[in-house]
Amino acid sequence: MPVYSISHVENVRVCVVMVGLPARGKSLIAQKIVRYLSWLSINSKCFNVGSYRREIATDTVVDAEFFDPKNEVGMNYRQEAITRATTDMMKWFSDDNGVVGILDATNSTRDRRDKILKLCRENSIEPMFLESFCDDQDLIMQNILDVKTTSPDYLNRNNEFAAEDFLKRIKFYEQVYETMDQKADADLTFIKLVNVNSQIILNRIESYLESRIVYYVMNLHIKPRSIWLSRHGESEYNLTGQIGGDSNLSERGWRYAKRLPELVLKSLGEENKHTNLTVWTSTLKRTQQTSSFLPYKRKLQWKALDELDAGECDGMTYEEIEKTFPEDFKARDDDKYEYRYRGGESYRDIVIRLEPIIMELERQENILIITHQAVLRCLYAYFMNVPQEESPWMSIPLHTLIKLEPRAYSTLVSRIKADIPAVSTYKEKGTSQLGELETGTASKSRDLIRDSELAK
Ligand SMILES: *[C@@H]1O[C@H](CO)[C@@H](O)[C@H](O)[C@H]1NC(C)=O
Ligand SMILES: *[C@@H]1O[C@H](CO)[C@@H](O)[C@H](O)[C@H]1NC(C)=O
Ligand SMILES: *[C@@H]1O[C@H](CO)[C@@H](O)[C@H](O)[C@H]1NC(C)=O
Ligand SMILES: *[C@@H]1O[C@H](CO)[C@@H](O)[C@H](O)[C@H]1NC(C)=O
Repeated sequence: MPVYSISHVENVRVCVVMVGLPARGKSLIAQKIVRYLSWLSINSKCFNVGSYRREIATDTVVDAEFFDPKNEVGMNYRQEAITRATTDMMKWFSDDNGVVGILDATNSTRDRRDKILKLCRENSIEPMFLESFCDDQDLIMQNILDVKTTSPDYLNRNNEFAAEDFLKRIKFYEQVYETMDQKADADLTFIKLVNVNSQIILNRIESYLESRIVYYVMNLHIKPRSIWLSRHGESEYNLTGQIGGDSNLSERGWRYAKRLPELVLKSLGEENKHTNLTVWTSTLKRTQQTSSFLPYKRKLQWKALDELDAGECDGMTYEEIEKTFPEDFKARDDDKYEYRYRGGESYRDIVIRLEPIIMELERQENILIITHQAVLRCLYAYFMNVPQEESPWMSIPLHTLIKLEPRAYSTLVSRIKADIPAVSTYKEKGTSQLGELETGTASKSRDLIRDSELAK
């Protein structure tokens, strides 16, 4: 069953309620779930109570004391913030056909949870609690370091103040905190992550959608790592403008393959030059040839990384496709994400076959992936949260190594270009000509990784 249609099949709506003290990585987990589900076309959104509180509590000092359960002013603001967040979420479920709403809040006493539970049940929404429980002091300190450097609450504060104040705030929360309990909460749906993934307790996971979320969070880790992406070197088909097939690299493609180990070392930097990468390629010759000079022992081939299957158009040029199947050519330009080649695939089909790859990528550490344009666009869209209608139009130039470094609240991107020319394989909307036009109608997102110097 295709993943993207589960919400239609089951007609299930889920409210994920985050539970846990501050600095337990809740917001990070919440954001990742939203990014993952959105990538699978499941309408999801996160409602962060902290941002609501920051919006309304503008006339008072927000330091640790604000979070003292005995501080009435603070309590009123916090109450108001959660009320607004919950109201907006319920409105989003009904007005915008929301499927998975995430309530990212901190104050989760049993009493508070009961209120949300009741509200969800009244609106036929399944409540699922997701607790991040952590008593490993090293992990907590690591998180505090992350939070205090990124939290809007400490924008103009020095680091020492921020760390101390934040620890004090956590103490106030600890006074009222009640963890999910297997006995007391036996009739609730919940996931409890203990010290990231050392232990995971699952209780009454019922729908398919819930079990997908469970499976995803089970695969997350927080070790720092990088992911490198590269297209294969220029192929012989790229020289003739043909799509698909299983051709060899061109002479310039081979030059890129030989240069690649050097680019990887440059990207790793001096201090990490001995890092062992795992290399993933597709099952097609051009990606394996591109990886052939890399000194790493672990090289894996994935069928799921193969290029978009162009079906009957395999081996044709865009001009031939335009002549032979004019309606198809136009239909693809009109909705490139959904358009499926006759007997072949659409971008949506690729996303579905890439899901296990994403799951495995979340589990792994340093990986270098050598694959194809359409597949790279989909992978890149996942990490960078690129909207569906834009992702098929992103330009990912040949002969360029892209490095992604996932961080707490964003992913850093850097690129290293090999100084080896290649044909442009970028096709603008509404033309069968390759190459990037300055007056393009394409979306702005492709500018993120466009490379006009290569596009000749
Ligand atoms: C936190 O939970 C307690 C117990 O449910 C409740 O009395 C209090 O109002 C809550 N605080 C906020 C700021 O929502
Ligand atoms: C480059 O060539 C390969 C075949 O070797 C093909 O699959 C791919 O679609 C080509 N790229 C473009 C965008 O033409
Ligand atoms: C690809 O390269 C291999 C080995 O170099 C060669 O045997 C084969 O004929 C080539 N294929 C094409 C289609 O040129
Ligand atoms: C990398 O892997 C190779 C072979 O698996 C091993 O010999 C080498 O020591 C590893 N290097 C590091 C830095 O772990």
